[in-house]
Amino acid sequence: MQPVVLTTERLTLDLLIDADVDVMTSYCQDTALKDAVPIPWPYGREHADGFINVLAPQWWEDGTEFTWAIRRTGDPLLLGVVGFNVESTAIGYWLGAPHRGNGFMPEAVAEAVSWLHSVGHTELHWEAVVGNVASARVAQKVGFDYTSTAPALGRFRDDTRPLCWHAHRAADNGELSEPTDAVLPWPI
Ligand SMILES: CC(C)(COP(=O)(O)OP(=O)(O)OC[C@H]1O[C@@H](n2cnc3c(N)ncnc32)[C@H](O)[C@@H]1OP(=O)(O)O)[C@@H](O)C(=O)NCCC(=O)NCCS
Repeated sequence: MQPVVLTTERLTLDLLIDADVDVMTSYCQDTALKDAVPIPWPYGREHADGFINVLAPQWWEDGTEFTWAIRRTGDPLLLGVVGFNVESTAIGYWLGAPHRGNGFMPEAVAEAVSWLHSVGHTELHWEAVVGNVASARVAQKVGFDYTSTAPALGRFRDDTRPLCWHAHRAADNGELSEPTDAVLPWPI
């Protein structure tokens, strides 16, 4: 599948490129990021290089995972990443620490969700380790419904499945085809 570029009022979501390797390596030294997202740890330049130059382009080509670099429109600096895994229907995201707290992620995720819906990915899943309020606020702001607190769908770096908040987002125009969870009030 051809990579797709998305734009919002302030942001451009495009392909990760080789010039992002060093800045991604630097962002990924952050222990808060390590605790929230399943990045390798310790995180070396080779991990950013492999992700940007091998994995992400391969996933676009296979159509298995769509990964976008988040940038301010007109500025090449990488701010963070948003991605969607087709098999699990999970949407995931992170920003480099200096770029948090500006409302960038709700803006980026809303656009990604809108595009995903437009191409037929109408049911999206989100999860975050219990207590990740910033991530939950993003999901809440873009219309995800909280459904449960339960173990993570996949195993984490330490081979455990920590307790996570789970949420889903159906297309604006429809119900979930197979509703499996009741919608509950967000625990934040
Ligand atoms: C989650 C993340 C992407 C949020 O992106 P962002 O662009 O900074 O989001 P926002 O600026 O809209 O802030 C999100 C909300 O969380 C709040 N928030 C931020 N950090 C917080 C914290 N440590 N504790 C409580 N609330 C926090 C903000 O005040 C804001 O709340 P508001 O909507 O009521 O104003 C960013 O914090 C991040 O990259 N975190 C590390 C990686 C991560 O957790 N990824 C998600 C894994 S599931």
